[in-house]
Amino acid sequence: MATPFTSDEIDAIRATTPGCTDRLIHLNHAGSSLPDQRVLDVQIGHLRREATIGGYEAAAEVAGDDAAVYDSIATLIGSRRHEIARMEHATAAWNAAFWAIPKRAGQRIITHDHDYGANWIAFLRAVEVHGVTIDRIPSDAHGQIDLERLATALEHPDDVALVSLAWIPTSGGLVNPAAAVGALTRAAGVPFLLDACQAVGHLDIDVEAIGCDALSATGRKFLRGPRGSGFLFVRGDAVDHFVPAQPDHHGADWTAMDRYVLAPGAQRYEYWEYSHASWLGLGAAIDVAASLGVDRIQATVAQRATQLRDRLAGASMNVHDEGIAKCGIVTTTHPRLTAAAVVSELRANGVNASATFEGSARADMEARDLPSMVRLSVHCTTTTDEVERVAAILAGL
Ligand SMILES: Cc1ncc(COP(=O)(O)O)c(C=O)c1O
Repeated sequence: MATPFTSDEIDAIRATTPGCTDRLIHLNHAGSSLPDQRVLDVQIGHLRREATIGGYEAAAEVAGDDAAVYDSIATLIGSRRHEIARMEHATAAWNAAFWAIPKRAGQRIITHDHDYGANWIAFLRAVEVHGVTIDRIPSDAHGQIDLERLATALEHPDDVALVSLAWIPTSGGLVNPAAAVGALTRAAGVPFLLDACQAVGHLDIDVEAIGCDALSATGRKFLRGPRGSGFLFVRGDAVDHFVPAQPDHHGADWTAMDRYVLAPGAQRYEYWEYSHASWLGLGAAIDVAASLGVDRIQATVAQRATQLRDRLAGASMNVHDEGIAKCGIVTTTHPRLTAAAVVSELRANGVNASATFEGSARADMEARDLPSMVRLSVHCTTTTDEVERVAAILAGL
């Protein structure tokens, strides 16, 4: 287990992060985190070049840097560069994989209560389009996907189109046992689509150890990258089994008037046009995270979230987090005030937080009969003092 950053190390990380000031306590990293100055410089520098010499000409200048972002991502998650597709955000990445995975009428999509709202909408659409059914695996006593029930659901693998799992759900505080799910799906030969939107930059990731066939990610959350950036991983040996739903002339080669050939590797999921500034910024964010050590970021986030859960309990807040392994997202309610009221009180006191809503987490909220909750999310930039100050504000409401 890696050691958390010391307070001096945290001060040094904060010193290169313009959003870290005495005037703001940012506890909304699960919404959109605070980028390092190097990320900002790369983005603004590229936008300037686009405005000065033209977008295509500026892109040609940084072709090598653009290509290097694939290497940075591959190193981050233990994959190979041709298994990575550039995406604008996690939902775009997840949908690219989801709609590429073959589905037959009558097959099941296996999922869990903590899967994300956007993914549930796609399941419902797939019921309409493909005649599949949704097989909802309940949580076990700890709140994570029930592995015994999953093993039973996989006993007839031909009936299953895919297994979908949110590794770190949008709320609920848990880290789902992705590697245990991967072991079951691999044994059954069923595609495993892992939503790692809240996990990249938050957990040390090795896609080989997890055994997922596809993984979707966003840049702006725990990677501290730009908004409008993300990526998709599709395992090399899965690429030929999955067919992108809407390839363009970058994802496929138009070889004759009546023919096209899909690009090799994950490029087949990409579109030609994209924000070069955001992509380069994502690369810079990943390089910053790598230089800090994602294992140490993970240890620091876990330590700070534990402190926050302790102090919230001391401030008479209800904490609704589940899981054997917990993450940096803390969900809580006030004994009297609504989540929206608490978020606006926090905002008035210079604290950024968010409120959960049913559209993101309906299955979990209904299963646990939860109201909208305050979501406080820490990062390696969060200090122990900030946690104490937020707990004191909440205790005083
Ligand atoms: C678990 C999870 N999956 C997917 C998403 C969607 O990510 P994006 O907004 O980058 O598409 C979110 C966003 O909060 C999320 O929390």
